[in-house]
Amino acid sequence: MNLKSLKIFFTVSLCTSALSLSSSTSGNGVVNTAIIKNTQAQLQEVPALKDLFKDKFTIGSSFSPAYFKDPILLEHIKKNFNGLTTENEFKWARINPKPGIYKFTNTDKVVQFAEDNNMEMVGHTLLWKHRNPAWRFKDNEGNTISKEALLQGIKKHIFKIVGRYKGRIKGWDVVNEVFNTDGSFRETELYTIMGEEYIEKAFQWVKEADPDTEIYYNDYGLYNEKKLDATVALIERLKEKGIDVDAVGFQGHLMLGWPKLQGLENAITKLAATGVEVMVTELDVTPLPSGFGKDVRERHISEIMNHPVDLNPYLSGLPEDKDIALAKRYEEIFKIILKHHDKVKRITLWGPNDGVNWMNDWPIKGRTDHATLFDRQNQAKRAFWKIVDLIKKANDSID
Ligand code: GLA
Repeated sequence: MNLKSLKIFFTVSLCTSALSLSSSTSGNGVVNTAIIKNTQAQLQEVPALKDLFKDKFTIGSSFSPAYFKDPILLEHIKKNFNGLTTENEFKWARINPKPGIYKFTNTDKVVQFAEDNNMEMVGHTLLWKHRNPAWRFKDNEGNTISKEALLQGIKKHIFKIVGRYKGRIKGWDVVNEVFNTDGSFRETELYTIMGEEYIEKAFQWVKEADPDTEIYYNDYGLYNEKKLDATVALIERLKEKGIDVDAVGFQGHLMLGWPKLQGLENAITKLAATGVEVMVTELDVTPLPSGFGKDVRERHISEIMNHPVDLNPYLSGLPEDKDIALAKRYEEIFKIILKHHDKVKRITLWGPNDGVNWMNDWPIKGRTDHATLFDRQNQAKRAFWKIVDLIKKANDSID
């Protein structure tokens, strides 16, 4: 499609969206997604995210093997995304739960799905603070293993996993989330046993196992100055040792009014100055009230029904004012990303629709969240159309 016909397509799509938005808003201002029927025909009317961004960056989605049971969701993912990141399947405890036991059925299926649909596959993640099998750090007597033993264990793991998918994974989140907010290293088992050394070794081994794959560092809270500086310093130290990290992932688990988006722009600029590309990974924006109080975190919503704040207020849909605020927030995020698109390699939405997005269960389980660009029927939300508008303007300005 040339630029002109693309513009006509957008105009038609925007009118269609305006109609579907008004018809889905009830008298009390609640956006009632239930009355929108999800049909193949409707999926066709709406432009695909991957087409919108094709000259700018890859647009990915998180993925779980459970989605294979939902053919409509699969069609929605195939239509919109040209990147895929497994939410949990590559994590150590999932793929290698017991010594010598590897579970590749799911990862094989997901990698094949990405290949069949021309999607760039990100392997997420090789080394993380969570989801490590307990046996990994202990010997047969239950004692903590030595640094050397753990390094050898990691090496074996990396060669096994990365080697199996050699040539098929665009890049690996080699290490995930090593810093505290103040920029110090987290006292994880990995760090306590091995110090910083495991990080450089892991990057090296991934490159040895698959020289053509890319290597990434991924973390949340990089809008935080100290954490960002620590990440920049890590990238520089690795560079001095001859290890060129290809990209850093800025995890975007955000809220409506927090954090300030200046932090996103700082992160893109500072990280790019080190020579890496930036990826906005794990992007979702929750409009729900914060669930971070000590008394509520990681509990089921049914246990905290008498909390002074209604922590699960949007069971039947977002009120119109919140839907507008969410759309505005996404618009501001994408404005910054588009402004720096020369430095940004990929955006990954953490959830192809509201129904399967992890925020429904975090930090409180069992809530009804609305944190993505698509509702529970895979219909484009107001936030999606804001982004269509933005990209249209960006494309117009290079006419
Ligand atoms: C973190 C991790 C991801 C995933 C999300 C929640 O940000 O990096 O692997 O567990 O939380 O889905």
